[in-house]
Formats: sequence, C-alpha cells, structure tokens
Amino acid sequence: MTLALVILAAGKGTRMNSDLPKVLHPIGQAPMLAHALRAGADLAPARTVVVAGHGADQVRAAVAEIDETIEVVLQPEQKGTAHAVDMARAALQGFEGDVVVLYGDTPFLRPGTLERMTAARGRCDLVILGFEAADPARYGRLVMDGDRLERIVEYKDATEAERAITFCNSGLMACDAATLFSLIAEVGNANAAGEYYLTDVVALANARGLAVTAVACDEAETLGINTRGELARAEALFQSRARADLMDQGVTLLAPETVHLAMDTVIGRDALIEPNVVFGPGVTVESGARIRAFCHLEGCHVSAGAVVGPFARLRPGAELAEDVHIGNFVEIKNAEIAEGAKVNHLSYIGDASIGARTNIGAGTITCNYDGVFKHRTEIGAGVFIGSDTMLVAPVRVGHNAMTATGTVVTKDIPEGAMAIGRTEQVNKPGFAVKLFDMLRAKKTRQTRG
Ligand code: UD1
Ligand code: CA
Repeated sequence: MTLALVILAAGKGTRMNSDLPKVLHPIGQAPMLAHALRAGADLAPARTVVVAGHGADQVRAAVAEIDETIEVVLQPEQKGTAHAVDMARAALQGFEGDVVVLYGDTPFLRPGTLERMTAARGRCDLVILGFEAADPARYGRLVMDGDRLERIVEYKDATEAERAITFCNSGLMACDAATLFSLIAEVGNANAAGEYYLTDVVALANARGLAVTAVACDEAETLGINTRGELARAEALFQSRARADLMDQGVTLLAPETVHLAMDTVIGRDALIEPNVVFGPGVTVESGARIRAFCHLEGCHVSAGAVVGPFARLRPGAELAEDVHIGNFVEIKNAEIAEGAKVNHLSYIGDASIGARTNIGAGTITCNYDGVFKHRTEIGAGVFIGSDTMLVAPVRVGHNAMTATGTVVTKDIPEGAMAIGRTEQVNKPGFAVKLFDMLRAKKTRQTRG
C-alpha cells in the first residue's frame, strides 16, 4: 500500500507561551515534530507533507534538517483540522494511495500502532485511532455502534450523554487519499468553535455508506503537548522509555534515572553507562564501551572497549577508536583518536588526530584557535606527549616522537624526535630560606603596626 503522511503542525501552541512554534520544542533534544515524523517513518511513506502555519519558516528550516524530501505546505490561517489537511490537497494532487493524518505535537506513538491502523484499512474505508481516556477532558468523543464508528463529537458540541463517553479521538486517521479529500470538501464550520473539524469526515463517510471504524491504542501514545508542564512530563516519559529500551537491548545503566538520552542515541550491547551521563544529539557508543560517571557526550562516536570519563566531555566530531581511554576533565572536539590512545587527565584536544597507542600527558592542550581561524594538530602513532604540552596548531608530530613536559610546540616534530621547548632551570642555593625569612619578618612588622 502506497502511503502519504500528512502531519498537522500549524497550530500556535498559545499555552506554551513561546516564540518557538510548539512542534519545535524539544523532547530528547529533538523537536517534537521529529518524533512524530519518526513514528510515521515506520510506515515507509512514499510522501510526507507537513502542514505549517505559526512559525512556518522555522518549521520549514527544522524539517529540512530532518529530511529534505519532506514537503512543507502553508496553512496561512488556522481554521481547523479539516482545513489544515485540505492544505495538503494540492501537494498530493494525483497521489494514489492512503493518507495517514498525524499531529506534530503527539510524539509518543509506538511502532505498531500505525501499522494496526493501516491493517484495519484493509477492512474499512476510514480508520480513526482512539483511546480510553482516564480523564476525557476536552477530547473529541467517539460514538461507536459496535465496531462501527458512527461519528465524532467535539467536547464543545457534545451533549451531557456524549460527554460521558470515555473512548476518545487521538486525531489520527487513515483513509484513501481521494476519498479523504472529497469528504473534506463537504466539511462545514457550523459548530461551537466555528472551525472546519476533520472529525466531521466520520459522519460524512457513514452518510455515504462507507465503513468506518476505530482502532484503540494506549492513552500514553496519544499524549499531546500543550503546556511547558506537559512538555516536562513528555520529556520524563521519553527518558524513561528510552532507558527501558536500551536496557532491553542489553545496555547496563547503573542508575537509569540519572542518564539523559537523546532521540537518536545509539548504544551497543554490553556497554556500561555509569550514573549522571548526558547524551546530546548524534551519539553512538559501541558494544562493551564504558562511559563513566558525569560525562557529557554529543555528536561523537565511541568504539568498542573504549573508556570515557569520569567527568569527560566529548563534543561534535569526537571519534574514538577501539580501546581508547579518555579520562577526567578532558574535552575532545572534532578529533580522531586512534586505537589504544590515551588522553587521561585535564586536556583539551580539538581539531586534531592522534595516532594509535599515543599517550597524551596531563594538561596537554591543542591550541587550535588563533582568534580568527581554527587549525589542526596531527600527532602520529606511538607518540609520548609530556604533561602540559601546548601544541600550537597547525602542527604535526611524527610517529614515535616525544615532547618534554611543559613544551610549547610551535614547529613540526619529525618522526622519532624529542622536542624540548621550555626555558632552562636555574637553582639559586639558599635563596628560598632567605626569601622566607624576609617575608615572615615583613608580616610580623605589619601585624604589630
Ligand atoms: C483535536 C480533535 C479532537 C481530538 C484532539 C486530540 C478536531 C476537530 N478535534 O482537538 O477530536 O480529541 O485533537 O488531541 O480535529 N492544527 C492545524 N491547523 C488548524 C488546527 C489545528 O495545523 O487549523 C493542528 C494543531 O497544531 C495540532 C492539531 O492540529 O497539532 C490538533 O489541533 P488542536 O487545535 O489541538 O485540536 P483539539 O482541539 O485538541
Ligand atoms: Ca490539542
């Protein structure tokens, strides 16, 4: 079955009280819209159309970053959900197949739920996703007659008896494209809100003698986000699901509730994550790696057998090969660290490559920035960089070379060479004792005076 997704994302999200369009607020460090898109991607849609309105330019830019093949259409004025879907009509002109309508602010759909909807399409012309609401509040009510969905009545328009119904509309629906658009053309706005309700297509379809049904999902999946409080709860829910998924996949989390994951975090089997680790976007940790406590990782790759932290920061472009050790208070950015290399204490390695088995001494810094440009540091294999070495980039260190502690490296170091660049030490006999005496005498005079 060829499918097109239509994702509604034009609403203002007034109650977020934000300059950012609601669908771009992050959950797991990805816009909530990205979560809806990911859920939809399980259906392998041939087309995806996002309907944007408020903050459309921002939405367009965010969508382009997620996937350039996704189309964005504009709903200039928010006249209701049917009107919103209608905005995709032109984009889907001539499209043959099903349309699945999703909301951009409903990030928790489980894989499988959409499949159940499309499976139900095999039996019915129009399928709605419903849920048993613990507190039905202002949701649209599904008026069922056995398996048949008769109509959806919005809370505002519902009678007391209809308001007592707890089976509610999630907002998702699946229908043949041509049928859906012809039903939408019949939707009016004579209701309490003066809006074009997408939900009206249900009664219209029944009037045509089409088969309409509802498929049920868990309420948690349809959780919509309208306020910052709901956003915070959604984040908590996302985190607990993501942690549970990782543990199911064989990852050890010593204190799961203290590990913060991003939507795209990938961690291999038998990796071990200690407490208080934050994963930003774009992190892959391979099997058997260990991330020790209090690390912050983003846009990086950690290979099998590597050990990171405690208290390490891996920034975008940090590429750690097998068995690399990154220790405490070390920051790595845009740098490839080859197999078995060690950067164990208090270092900054940026815009660099470090060869296999090289050891970087404590306090080493790649001075990559001259105030205007960034420059690279290239260090070969089997190198020993002495503690407190300043590598003033651009600079190259050959294989098996060495730097003396405290060296400021401003010139390339040939393979096998030792670089020493520091002022020579001078010892002045007895001078320390004299100086102490002088200072102590001064202090005594001051406290008396
Ligand atoms: C809608 C449903 C209701 C359902 C509820 C589930 C209708 C008429 N009602 O109500 O049955 O129980 O969702 O959450 O469909 N949007 C646009 N353009 C518009 C209007 C809305 O893009 O002109 C988008 C919103 O950004 C949002 C979604 O559609 O993502 C739902 O709109 P919203 O106004 O929140 O609908 P509800 O009143 O909650
Ligand atoms: Ca809503």
